[in-house]
Amino acid sequence: MKALVTGGAGFIGSHLVDLLINEGHEVTVIDNLITGNKENINSNARFIFMDVCSPDLETVFTEHGPDCVFHLAAQASVGESIKDPIKDSEINIKGLINVLENCKKNNVKKIIFSSTAAVYGTPMSLPITEEHITDPISFYGVSKLAAEMYIKTYNILYGIDYTILRYANVYGPRQNYNGEGGVISIFINRILNHEPPIILGTGEQTRDFIYVSDVARANLKASISEDVGTFNISSGTAISLTQLLDSLSYIRSVKISPLYQNHRIGDIAHSCLENRMAELKLNWKPIYKLEDGLKITLDYYTEHQSNLVKGAIHK
Ligand SMILES: NC(=O)c1ccc[n+]([C@@H]2O[C@H](COP(=O)([O-])OP(=O)(O)OC[C@H]3O[C@@H](n4cnc5c(N)ncnc54)[C@H](O)[C@@H]3O)[C@@H](O)[C@H]2O)c1
Repeated sequence: MKALVTGGAGFIGSHLVDLLINEGHEVTVIDNLITGNKENINSNARFIFMDVCSPDLETVFTEHGPDCVFHLAAQASVGESIKDPIKDSEINIKGLINVLENCKKNNVKKIIFSSTAAVYGTPMSLPITEEHITDPISFYGVSKLAAEMYIKTYNILYGIDYTILRYANVYGPRQNYNGEGGVISIFINRILNHEPPIILGTGEQTRDFIYVSDVARANLKASISEDVGTFNISSGTAISLTQLLDSLSYIRSVKISPLYQNHRIGDIAHSCLENRMAELKLNWKPIYKLEDGLKITLDYYTEHQSNLVKGAIHK
Protein backbone atom coordinates (compact mmCIF):
# COMPACT_ATOMS: atom_id res chain seq x y z
CA MET A 1 0.00 0.00 0.00
CA LYS A 2 1.03 3.61 -0.61
CA ALA A 3 0.38 5.33 2.71
CA LEU A 4 0.35 9.03 3.52
CA VAL A 5 0.81 9.75 7.23
CA THR A 6 0.11 13.32 8.34
CA GLY A 7 1.78 14.09 11.67
CA GLY A 8 4.24 11.25 11.07
CA ALA A 9 7.02 13.06 12.99
CA GLY A 10 4.91 13.12 16.14
CA PHE A 11 4.58 10.67 19.00
CA ILE A 12 1.90 8.28 17.69
CA GLY A 13 2.48 9.04 14.00
CA SER A 14 6.17 8.05 14.12
CA HIS A 15 5.34 4.66 15.69
CA LEU A 16 2.73 4.11 12.98
CA VAL A 17 5.28 4.98 10.27
CA ASP A 18 7.75 2.45 11.77
CA LEU A 19 5.07 -0.24 11.74
CA LEU A 20 3.99 0.51 8.15
CA ILE A 21 7.60 0.42 6.95
CA ASN A 22 8.21 -2.87 8.79
CA GLU A 23 5.16 -4.32 7.06
CA GLY A 24 6.62 -3.37 3.66
CA HIS A 25 4.42 -0.37 2.83
CA GLU A 26 5.55 2.74 0.96
CA VAL A 27 5.20 5.68 3.32
CA THR A 28 5.13 9.45 2.80
CA VAL A 29 5.08 11.68 5.88
CA ILE A 30 3.77 15.23 5.99
CA ASP A 31 4.57 17.24 9.08
CA ASN A 32 5.29 20.88 9.91
CA LEU A 33 7.30 19.81 12.98
CA ILE A 34 5.36 22.16 15.26
CA THR A 35 5.38 19.50 18.02
CA GLY A 36 6.97 16.66 16.05
CA ASN A 37 10.65 15.89 15.69
CA LYS A 38 12.54 15.04 12.50
CA GLU A 39 14.61 12.47 14.43
CA ASN A 40 11.42 10.44 15.01
CA ILE A 41 10.92 9.83 11.29
CA ASN A 42 11.90 6.43 9.96
CA SER A 43 14.73 6.85 7.44
CA ASN A 44 12.88 4.64 4.94
CA ALA A 45 9.91 7.01 4.80
CA ARG A 46 9.73 9.99 2.43
CA PHE A 47 9.45 13.19 4.47
CA ILE A 48 7.77 16.35 3.23
CA PHE A 49 7.90 19.39 5.48
CA MET A 50 4.44 20.88 5.02
CA ASP A 51 1.45 22.24 6.85
CA VAL A 52 -1.75 20.24 6.29
CA CYS A 53 -3.55 23.55 5.67
CA SER A 54 -1.25 24.40 2.74
CA PRO A 55 -2.62 24.57 -0.84
CA ASP A 56 0.61 22.73 -1.85
CA LEU A 57 -0.85 19.58 -0.31
CA GLU A 58 -2.35 18.97 -3.75
CA THR A 59 1.10 18.29 -5.26
CA VAL A 60 1.81 15.68 -2.58
CA PHE A 61 -1.36 13.80 -3.51
CA THR A 62 -0.81 14.06 -7.26
CA GLU A 63 2.88 13.09 -7.05
CA HIS A 64 2.60 10.27 -4.53
CA GLY A 65 -0.96 8.99 -5.15
CA PRO A 66 -1.67 7.43 -1.73
CA ASP A 67 -4.14 4.54 -1.42
CA CYS A 68 -4.74 5.29 2.22
CA VAL A 69 -4.32 8.43 4.35
CA PHE A 70 -3.64 8.21 8.08
CA HIS A 71 -4.53 11.66 9.43
CA LEU A 72 -2.80 12.31 12.74
CA ALA A 73 -1.57 15.90 12.31
CA ALA A 74 -3.47 18.01 14.78
CA GLN A 75 -3.46 20.63 17.43
CA ALA A 76 -3.60 17.96 20.14
CA SER A 77 -3.64 20.00 23.35
CA VAL A 78 -6.87 20.63 25.28
CA GLY A 79 -5.31 23.65 27.03
CA GLU A 80 -4.12 25.21 23.75
CA SER A 81 -7.57 24.74 22.24
CA ILE A 82 -9.08 26.75 25.09
CA LYS A 83 -6.41 29.45 24.79
CA ASP A 84 -6.72 29.71 21.01
CA PRO A 85 -9.87 28.08 19.59
CA ILE A 86 -9.36 29.76 16.19
CA LYS A 87 -5.94 28.16 15.69
CA ASP A 88 -7.29 24.82 16.97
CA SER A 89 -10.15 24.89 14.46
CA GLU A 90 -7.86 25.96 11.60
CA ILE A 91 -5.60 22.94 12.06
CA ASN A 92 -8.14 20.37 13.22
CA ILE A 93 -11.04 21.31 10.95
CA LYS A 94 -9.68 23.30 7.98
CA GLY A 95 -6.56 21.12 7.78
CA LEU A 96 -8.71 18.01 7.74
CA ILE A 97 -11.00 19.42 5.04
CA ASN A 98 -7.91 20.21 2.93
CA VAL A 99 -6.87 16.56 3.31
CA LEU A 100 -10.38 15.32 2.45
CA GLU A 101 -10.66 17.55 -0.65
CA ASN A 102 -7.40 16.04 -1.91
CA CYS A 103 -8.64 12.53 -1.09
CA LYS A 104 -11.73 13.28 -3.18
CA LYS A 105 -9.80 14.68 -6.18
CA ASN A 106 -7.29 11.84 -6.16
CA ASN A 107 -9.64 8.91 -5.53
CA VAL A 108 -8.07 7.91 -2.21
CA LYS A 109 -9.78 4.74 -1.04
CA LYS A 110 -9.66 5.26 2.70
CA ILE A 111 -8.87 7.72 5.47
CA ILE A 112 -8.02 6.61 9.02
CA PHE A 113 -8.61 9.44 11.48
CA SER A 114 -7.09 9.86 14.95
CA SER A 115 -9.89 11.05 17.19
CA THR A 116 -10.16 11.15 20.94
CA ALA A 117 -12.15 10.29 24.05
CA ALA A 118 -12.53 14.09 24.44
CA VAL A 119 -15.47 13.94 21.99
CA TYR A 120 -17.56 12.26 24.72
CA GLY A 121 -17.16 15.00 27.34
CA THR A 122 -18.12 14.09 30.91
CA PRO A 123 -19.01 10.37 30.99
CA MET A 124 -22.65 9.60 31.77
CA SER A 125 -21.78 5.91 32.26
CA LEU A 126 -18.62 3.77 32.37
CA PRO A 127 -17.04 2.21 30.44
CA ILE A 128 -17.85 4.59 27.59
CA THR A 129 -19.10 2.81 24.48
CA GLU A 130 -19.13 4.27 20.96
CA GLU A 131 -22.89 4.83 21.47
CA HIS A 132 -22.28 7.24 24.35
CA ILE A 133 -23.53 10.78 23.75
CA THR A 134 -20.88 13.12 22.27
CA ASP A 135 -20.91 16.29 24.33
CA PRO A 136 -17.38 17.74 24.41
CA ILE A 137 -16.29 20.14 27.15
CA SER A 138 -13.24 21.59 25.33
CA PHE A 139 -12.70 23.19 21.91
CA TYR A 140 -10.30 20.33 21.13
CA GLY A 141 -13.18 17.87 21.66
CA VAL A 142 -15.42 20.08 19.51
CA SER A 143 -12.93 20.34 16.62
CA LYS A 144 -12.27 16.57 16.66
CA LEU A 145 -16.02 15.87 16.66
CA ALA A 146 -16.55 18.32 13.79
CA ALA A 147 -13.71 16.57 11.91
CA GLU A 148 -15.45 13.21 12.45
CA MET A 149 -18.64 14.65 10.96
CA TYR A 150 -16.83 16.03 7.91
CA ILE A 151 -15.31 12.60 7.33
CA LYS A 152 -18.74 10.93 7.53
CA THR A 153 -20.23 13.51 5.17
CA TYR A 154 -17.42 13.01 2.60
CA ASN A 155 -18.24 9.32 2.82
CA ILE A 156 -21.92 9.97 2.11
CA LEU A 157 -21.23 12.43 -0.73
CA TYR A 158 -18.13 10.93 -2.38
CA GLY A 159 -17.85 7.37 -1.05
CA ILE A 160 -14.45 7.83 0.66
CA ASP A 161 -14.19 4.98 3.16
CA TYR A 162 -13.08 5.84 6.66
CA THR A 163 -12.25 4.53 10.09
CA ILE A 164 -12.45 6.89 13.04
CA LEU A 165 -10.34 5.76 16.00
CA ARG A 166 -11.10 7.39 19.33
CA TYR A 167 -8.06 6.96 21.54
CA ALA A 168 -7.95 6.83 25.32
CA ASN A 169 -4.75 8.15 27.02
CA VAL A 170 -1.86 7.01 24.84
CA TYR A 171 1.62 6.57 26.37
CA GLY A 172 5.03 5.28 25.34
CA PRO A 173 8.45 6.33 24.02
CA ARG A 174 8.78 9.67 22.16
CA GLN A 175 5.83 11.28 23.91
CA ASN A 176 6.36 14.95 24.62
CA TYR A 177 6.79 15.55 28.34
CA ASN A 178 6.79 19.34 28.24
CA GLY A 179 3.52 21.15 28.69
CA GLU A 180 0.51 18.92 28.38
CA GLY A 181 2.10 15.63 27.23
CA GLY A 182 0.72 12.44 28.70
CA VAL A 183 0.72 12.05 32.46
CA ILE A 184 2.95 8.96 32.25
CA SER A 185 5.79 10.70 30.38
CA ILE A 186 5.49 13.72 32.70
CA PHE A 187 5.64 11.49 35.81
CA ILE A 188 8.59 9.50 34.46
CA ASN A 189 10.57 12.59 33.58
CA ARG A 190 10.05 14.10 37.01
CA ILE A 191 11.10 10.80 38.61
CA LEU A 192 14.27 10.67 36.48
CA ASN A 193 15.01 14.29 37.47
CA HIS A 194 14.63 13.29 41.16
CA GLU A 195 11.54 15.44 41.47
CA PRO A 196 8.25 14.17 42.94
CA PRO A 197 5.47 13.61 40.40
CA ILE A 198 2.64 16.11 40.91
CA ILE A 199 -0.87 14.77 41.40
CA LEU A 200 -3.69 17.28 41.03
CA GLY A 201 -6.35 16.13 43.49
CA THR A 202 -6.44 12.94 45.55
CA GLY A 203 -4.84 10.54 43.05
CA GLU A 204 -8.03 8.49 43.04
CA GLN A 205 -9.05 9.80 39.62
CA THR A 206 -8.91 6.98 37.08
CA ARG A 207 -7.76 6.82 33.46
CA ASP A 208 -7.42 4.21 30.76
CA PHE A 209 -3.86 4.05 29.39
CA ILE A 210 -3.09 2.43 26.04
CA TYR A 211 0.44 1.69 24.81
CA VAL A 212 1.47 3.48 21.61
CA SER A 213 2.39 0.31 19.63
CA ASP A 214 -1.13 -0.99 20.21
CA VAL A 215 -2.50 2.28 18.82
CA ALA A 216 -0.24 2.04 15.75
CA ARG A 217 -1.45 -1.53 15.18
CA ALA A 218 -5.09 -0.39 15.44
CA ASN A 219 -4.39 2.03 12.57
CA LEU A 220 -2.90 -0.74 10.46
CA LYS A 221 -5.84 -3.09 11.21
CA ALA A 222 -8.26 -0.30 10.29
CA SER A 223 -6.54 0.18 6.92
CA ILE A 224 -7.14 -3.46 5.94
CA SER A 225 -10.64 -3.74 7.38
CA GLU A 226 -13.71 -3.59 5.16
CA ASP A 227 -15.60 -1.94 8.01
CA VAL A 228 -16.41 1.74 7.85
CA GLY A 229 -17.04 3.05 11.35
CA THR A 230 -15.99 4.59 14.64
CA PHE A 231 -14.08 2.63 17.26
CA ASN A 232 -12.70 3.23 20.73
CA ILE A 233 -9.03 2.29 21.03
CA SER A 234 -8.22 1.69 24.68
CA SER A 235 -7.01 -0.80 27.22
CA GLY A 236 -10.56 -1.02 28.58
CA THR A 237 -9.14 -0.96 32.11
CA ALA A 238 -9.24 2.05 34.43
CA ILE A 239 -6.44 2.64 36.89
CA SER A 240 -6.01 5.44 39.38
CA LEU A 241 -3.01 7.78 39.36
CA THR A 242 -2.09 6.33 42.77
CA GLN A 243 -2.04 2.82 41.25
CA LEU A 244 0.00 4.15 38.34
CA LEU A 245 2.63 5.48 40.74
CA ASP A 246 2.56 2.17 42.63
CA SER A 247 3.35 0.35 39.37
CA LEU A 248 6.22 2.75 38.61
CA SER A 249 7.52 2.28 42.18
CA TYR A 250 7.38 -1.49 41.74
CA ILE A 251 9.29 -1.39 38.43
CA ARG A 252 11.96 0.92 39.87
CA SER A 253 12.02 -0.91 43.21
CA VAL A 254 11.76 2.38 45.11
CA LYS A 255 8.79 4.03 46.75
CA ILE A 256 7.82 7.08 44.69
CA SER A 257 5.94 9.68 46.73
CA PRO A 258 3.97 12.32 44.85
CA LEU A 259 3.35 15.95 45.62
CA TYR A 260 -0.38 16.68 45.91
CA GLN A 261 -1.77 19.92 44.52
CA ASN A 262 -5.29 21.26 44.04
CA HIS A 263 -7.64 19.42 41.73
CA ARG A 264 -7.89 21.20 38.35
CA ILE A 265 -11.38 22.57 37.65
CA GLY A 266 -12.95 20.79 34.69
CA ASP A 267 -10.86 17.59 35.05
CA ILE A 268 -12.95 14.45 34.64
CA ALA A 269 -12.86 12.16 37.70
CA HIS A 270 -13.07 8.84 35.86
CA SER A 271 -12.59 7.83 32.25
CA CYS A 272 -12.49 4.41 30.63
CA LEU A 273 -13.36 3.43 27.07
CA GLU A 274 -15.01 0.14 26.16
CA ASN A 275 -12.96 -1.52 23.37
CA ARG A 276 -15.07 -4.53 22.33
CA MET A 277 -16.23 -3.06 19.01
CA ALA A 278 -12.64 -2.74 17.79
CA GLU A 279 -12.05 -6.39 18.67
CA LEU A 280 -15.22 -7.47 16.91
CA LYS A 281 -14.92 -5.38 13.75
CA LEU A 282 -11.20 -4.63 13.35
CA ASN A 283 -9.88 -7.83 14.88
CA TRP A 284 -7.78 -5.65 17.19
CA LYS A 285 -7.16 -5.87 20.87
CA PRO A 286 -4.39 -4.45 23.03
CA ILE A 287 -1.34 -6.67 23.49
CA TYR A 288 0.76 -4.67 25.95
CA LYS A 289 0.03 -4.96 29.66
CA LEU A 290 0.49 -1.67 31.52
CA GLU A 291 3.53 -2.98 33.43
CA ASP A 292 5.26 -4.01 30.18
CA GLY A 293 4.51 -0.72 28.44
CA LEU A 294 5.65 1.24 31.49
CA LYS A 295 8.91 -0.67 31.63
CA ILE A 296 9.70 0.01 27.95
CA THR A 297 8.77 3.67 28.40
CA LEU A 298 10.92 4.03 31.54
CA ASP A 299 13.88 2.40 29.78
CA TYR A 300 13.45 4.74 26.80
CA TYR A 301 13.43 7.92 28.90
CA THR A 302 16.30 6.69 31.06
CA GLU A 303 18.45 6.11 27.97
CA HIS A 304 17.25 9.34 26.39
CA GLN A 305 18.19 11.32 29.49
CA SER A 306 21.63 9.76 29.78
CA ASN A 307 22.21 10.66 26.10
CA LEU A 308 21.14 14.25 26.83
CA VAL A 309 23.57 14.41 29.77
CA LYS A 310 26.38 12.91 27.63
CA GLY A 311 25.58 15.50 24.91
CA ALA A 312 25.76 18.31 27.47
CA ILE A 313 29.13 17.05 28.79
CA HIS A 314 30.60 16.86 25.26
CA LYS A 315 29.60 20.50 24.49
N1 LIG B 1 -1.49 11.24 22.72
C1 LIG B 1 -2.72 10.94 23.08
O1 LIG B 1 -2.96 10.49 24.23
C2 LIG B 1 -3.88 11.13 22.13
C3 LIG B 1 -5.17 10.80 22.59
C4 LIG B 1 -6.23 10.98 21.72
C5 LIG B 1 -6.03 11.42 20.42
N2 LIG B 1 -4.78 11.75 20.01
C6 LIG B 1 -4.62 12.22 18.62
O2 LIG B 1 -3.60 11.48 17.99
C7 LIG B 1 -2.92 12.30 17.03
C8 LIG B 1 -1.43 12.28 17.27
O3 LIG B 1 -1.19 12.82 18.58
P1 LIG B 1 0.23 12.77 19.29
O4 LIG B 1 0.00 12.52 20.73
O5 LIG B 1 1.14 11.88 18.52
O6 LIG B 1 0.65 14.30 19.16
P2 LIG B 1 1.98 14.95 18.54
O7 LIG B 1 1.85 16.41 18.85
O8 LIG B 1 3.18 14.22 19.01
O9 LIG B 1 1.79 14.69 16.99
C9 LIG B 1 1.12 15.57 16.13
C10 LIG B 1 2.00 15.77 14.90
O10 LIG B 1 1.29 16.60 13.97
C11 LIG B 1 2.19 17.61 13.51
N3 LIG B 1 1.37 18.77 13.15
C12 LIG B 1 0.64 19.57 13.98
N4 LIG B 1 0.02 20.51 13.27
C13 LIG B 1 0.34 20.31 11.98
C14 LIG B 1 0.01 20.96 10.76
N5 LIG B 1 -0.80 22.04 10.75
N6 LIG B 1 0.52 20.50 9.60
C15 LIG B 1 1.37 19.42 9.59
N7 LIG B 1 1.72 18.77 10.72
C16 LIG B 1 1.21 19.21 11.89
C17 LIG B 1 3.12 17.89 14.68
O11 LIG B 1 4.33 18.50 14.29
C18 LIG B 1 3.31 16.49 15.23
O12 LIG B 1 4.39 15.84 14.60
C19 LIG B 1 -3.54 13.69 17.13
O13 LIG B 1 -4.50 13.82 16.12
C20 LIG B 1 -4.19 13.68 18.50
O14 LIG B 1 -5.29 14.56 18.56
C21 LIG B 1 -3.69 11.62 20.82
